Amino acid sequence: MIEALLFDMDGVLADSEDISIQVGIEYFKTIGVNATRDTFSNALGCGERLFFDKAAENLGVSYSYDEASAFFKRRYEEIIGDRNIALPGADFVKRAKKAGILTALCSSAPRWKVETNIEGIGLEKADFDFIASGEDIKRNKPEKDIYELAMIKLGVSSDVSVVFEDTTGGIESGKRAGCRVVSMMTTIDGAAAEAAGADSVISDLSAIQEFSTPGELEALLFDVFAGTDAVRYGANLIRPLERKMPRSFTEKRAIEAARKTWENGYAPYSHFKVGAAVVSAATGRIYPGCNVENSSYGATICAERNAITTAIAAEGAIGIDILVVYSDDDPPAPPCAVCLQVIAEFAASDTEIILVTPRTEPVRYTFKELLPMPFIFPTMR
Ligand code: THU
Repeated sequence: MIEALLFDMDGVLADSEDISIQVGIEYFKTIGVNATRDTFSNALGCGERLFFDKAAENLGVSYSYDEASAFFKRRYEEIIGDRNIALPGADFVKRAKKAGILTALCSSAPRWKVETNIEGIGLEKADFDFIASGEDIKRNKPEKDIYELAMIKLGVSSDVSVVFEDTTGGIESGKRAGCRVVSMMTTIDGAAAEAAGADSVISDLSAIQEFSTPGELEALLFDVFAGTDAVRYGANLIRPLERKMPRSFTEKRAIEAARKTWENGYAPYSHFKVGAAVVSAATGRIYPGCNVENSSYGATICAERNAITTAIAAEGAIGIDILVVYSDDDPPAPPCAVCLQVIAEFAASDTEIILVTPRTEPVRYTFKELLPMPFIFPTMR
């Protein structure tokens, strides 16, 4: 689960890569060299030194870094002035903090540029739990150092840290630090981001709005089942087991499990025992549950909910492939409305519900026949 977000600045939060390129072109003009946008295509994201070194190498010229750096600072600050340079969705940083997630800014740029940009984005230093510039590390991106430094300062490990980047060098840096990396398509395209190792690609930060917990953000950023054969069971994406047994065999075993647990039904008040069995879609395992009544009647637990919670205790979130309800009633008792709502959380519309009694043949329904319009929380649909 996500605990910390580590943001690159230029091209992720700040719409500044074009300004940097413009100033770079202007600088090379002062030494009589014609540079173009393409001159800087592999020069972004790894700090000022590499920005100029790579461009000079691409142009086949030599230059003075000190002169270039002084020119860059003067012109960059001039151009930015009071301009708002926030990329769409830059206030994502504030929302992440609100959701209880740590935030760090990890820019290879010099400290003056980091501070100029934070203001230009409309954020404050206090929006970040830690800020690192290119001056805080010896080896700049694509080395992993800046992200490792941030994780040490925040006290988090790489498996709970997510890096936001927009350049191949930056993505490489995040991957070398062992983090999952989300790439924007502000500077490079999706194919280039994936080739560089990005775990997830989004247009920009405005694409991820709907979350208020780390878990919801995790689902938005890394829908691990995207593009796989996962099936939606209520609020959950589950990859169903490839069935080896004939379905009739599984049904028979589930019915037997429900009958057996029916005998254990704790019903001293109603004297109406109910048994249930859930077949997990992911594993094919069968989980039983009987009704458990209580002196305080309202505290009673139905058989279906007992079976479902038992399955979840063993497997975590489940998909319900088959649910059997066993009772001694004619016609056989269906799940109550409360149970249907709980089933909805883990059932597909064609999940099979089998109602069984000791005397009659099993009656089969699909879940959608019993509850055609279940309520599922909007962000989980
Ligand atoms: N009961 C179930 O176990 N499942 C249902 O879906 C409906 C009702 C139980 C609860 C209680 O112990 C008894 O049936 C009578 O209401």
